[in-house]
Amino acid sequence: MPTLTIAVLPGDGIGPEVIHQSLLVLDTIAKKFDHHLEYKHGQIGAVAIHATGSPLPEETLELCRSSDAVLFGAVGDPAFDNDPLAKVRPEQGLLSMRKELGLFANIRPVQTYPSLHHLSPIKSTRLNNTDLIIYRELTGGIYFGEKKLSADGQWAVDTCTYSVDEITRVGTLAFEHAMRRKKRLCLVDKANVLETSRLWRKTISELSHAFPEVQTEFMFVDNAAMQLILHPAQFDVILTENMFGDILSDEASVLAGSLGLLPSASIGSGTSVFEPIHGSYPQAAGKDIANPIGSILSSALMLESLGLKEEAQNIKEAVDWSIQHGFVTKDIDPVNFYFTSTIGELLCDFILNRVDDAVNRANIQMRKSTII
Ligand code: IPM
Ligand code: MN
Repeated sequence: MPTLTIAVLPGDGIGPEVIHQSLLVLDTIAKKFDHHLEYKHGQIGAVAIHATGSPLPEETLELCRSSDAVLFGAVGDPAFDNDPLAKVRPEQGLLSMRKELGLFANIRPVQTYPSLHHLSPIKSTRLNNTDLIIYRELTGGIYFGEKKLSADGQWAVDTCTYSVDEITRVGTLAFEHAMRRKKRLCLVDKANVLETSRLWRKTISELSHAFPEVQTEFMFVDNAAMQLILHPAQFDVILTENMFGDILSDEASVLAGSLGLLPSASIGSGTSVFEPIHGSYPQAAGKDIANPIGSILSSALMLESLGLKEEAQNIKEAVDWSIQHGFVTKDIDPVNFYFTSTIGELLCDFILNRVDDAVNRANIQMRKSTII
């Protein structure tokens, strides 16, 4: 097996901590399966702005282009959020990377864990059988349309633009994925109001003829926001535009138990990027309380995309095991929680078959937080 080069972009806030745990898990997998992974670190986001003035230095972009995959942490810093006049923002680093690498599809699987149902704000009867996947268009729409702030600061414009080609390429991937799943696809839009949504509906409706086995549905985004909470099990593949996908995937994360659990893969024409769906969560940075699972499962998606299926499956099994045994971080269980680093260690132990329930349980308990 040749060496795989991974561009590692930890970014801001909890990014470096969750990425650190991912690398420990990846190292463990590499050791177990005898692979060689080479990590090359790059800067992005607020740390990159402080170091170079740019949220995505050219050097980082080059690194991404020349790597086999990119593992990304998070970007964002409240110092920039609270300054409407800031000329550069950390988020621009992530958005430019997506655009520059041509990553037009962001895939966000949402799985629920029966052992976490009791901690969910949603009744477990509603959570049963939920297993959906969101296909979010990632390089178009209002995120990338023309923007303007008038000279007198009295009005502003964001433009939402989509072309048939942009809709078709992500739509095709979503249909193909639906064929490998339950063969149901729901396009979420706001076609009763927006012209771009009407184009989405027309394009996807035409595309659906090429996938006659897939049952295609259309749903307005306001209704979809409600249906996700009321009857999440009705969904299989949700296909939607950039901003609706951003919002609905945060909402859908509540079904899984926490925003911190969800991974994603961003794919397209360039090197793929694997990133948790959560943000930089600056309030938690440096406290060893962030949930590393979103990032660790993103690493599993990365291995899968590199053709290392068994290795990816091993990571998923480790995550299932830890959640099932209640080894979870504070976002999931604010009373009985474990530290970020402890979760990482436990997953590595599991991967190396070092976990013997009877013997190690007491040791593990000792690593539980005593801070309530
Ligand atoms: C996400 C994030 C980003 C987005 C931000 C950080 C720009 O919320 O990946 O979902 O809005 O796409
Ligand atoms: Mn988001």
